Amino acid sequence: MTLQNFDVEHFLEHHWQRKPLLIRGALPSWENPLEPNELAGLACEDDIESRLIISSNDYEMQHGPFEDDQFAALEGKIYTLLVQAVDHHIPEVSVLLNAFRFIPNWRIDDVMVSTANTGGGVGPHYDQYDVFLLQGLGQRRWQIGQMCDGNTTLLPHEDLRLMADFQVKDEWVLNAGDILYVPPMLAHNGIAQSDDCMTYSIGFRAPSQSELISHYSDYILDEMIEDTRYQDTGFHGQDNSGAISDTAIDDLHKMILHKISDKAGFARWLGKYLSTSKYSEPNAIESITHDMQNGDTIMRNPASRFIYTDDGQSLYVDAIYYNCSDETANFTKALCSYETLIYQDTMSDDVKTLIQKLCTQNAICSS
Ligand code: SIN
Ligand code: CO
Repeated sequence: MTLQNFDVEHFLEHHWQRKPLLIRGALPSWENPLEPNELAGLACEDDIESRLIISSNDYEMQHGPFEDDQFAALEGKIYTLLVQAVDHHIPEVSVLLNAFRFIPNWRIDDVMVSTANTGGGVGPHYDQYDVFLLQGLGQRRWQIGQMCDGNTTLLPHEDLRLMADFQVKDEWVLNAGDILYVPPMLAHNGIAQSDDCMTYSIGFRAPSQSELISHYSDYILDEMIEDTRYQDTGFHGQDNSGAISDTAIDDLHKMILHKISDKAGFARWLGKYLSTSKYSEPNAIESITHDMQNGDTIMRNPASRFIYTDDGQSLYVDAIYYNCSDETANFTKALCSYETLIYQDTMSDDVKTLIQKLCTQNAICSS
């Protein structure tokens, strides 16, 4: 699946993380893979994150999982239902991600799917991440506004981050197969124009500095076996006992830098951290088998996160690290890049062992 009417190089140079882009007819042969009532079905499941926003008067938000009678009570109301990580559950939705492989997989968060009736929407807001908004069914009017920052005034609301002053700069009505790319911090507002409106949000993630520092330092602390202490053997004395000398500050600072500057250690942690699955550990998918046969198709579990380092020697799958031999490196690269691979009896024993382990971990399956 590739996007039409879309120039990747031009997009990366001018739009990615910078400016919005409307792509008309991005997926001309698009067939909506999920009906609104099927999405409502997912929102009733315990392990699936969902929200319902009723905007008939003020904006009111309810969290899933929902019961059928909660949907029945929507009669005559304006609403939108949003379900997170639908790609983890519906393979026909996860294939959509293939159109966005010009951005590394580790940057992808998930595909959120919404359904709304006429007038429904989540209100004017901004997100901290890049998002491609694909119109799946019906029509939606998208308005884009100003660039926001941490000082942008929000309306007082318990659950929603709605903007107090949304300034419409441009607007379009999207039809099925059209996509609007919205960069981080750009205000936007989507209003359903039909009762069957469905929007697929391909959302990206970008770790924050505070998140990295906090999680990496927790890891360093867990891993530390000895606690090296400050030493000042060779101290020559100082004029004022009340001062902390520059040398002491330097030595103390080095104690921290020494731990933090270990790039190999950081890369190992990062692989595990970024490949941690978003929700609980991925479940087995239907046709999982631990006994692959020659010619079987190998597929990654859509709920699993795979990352390999450039040399193919380190593979991280749902926070588990595999040290790959030269022989398995090519297989690792192919497994992380292609949608499917073919199992062959002629594969080396190392590759077969890796496949076995990944099957046991529910990260791959055969179809
Ligand atoms: C929606 O699908 O209605 C909301 C998507 C978004 O604004 O990020
Ligand atoms: Co948004």
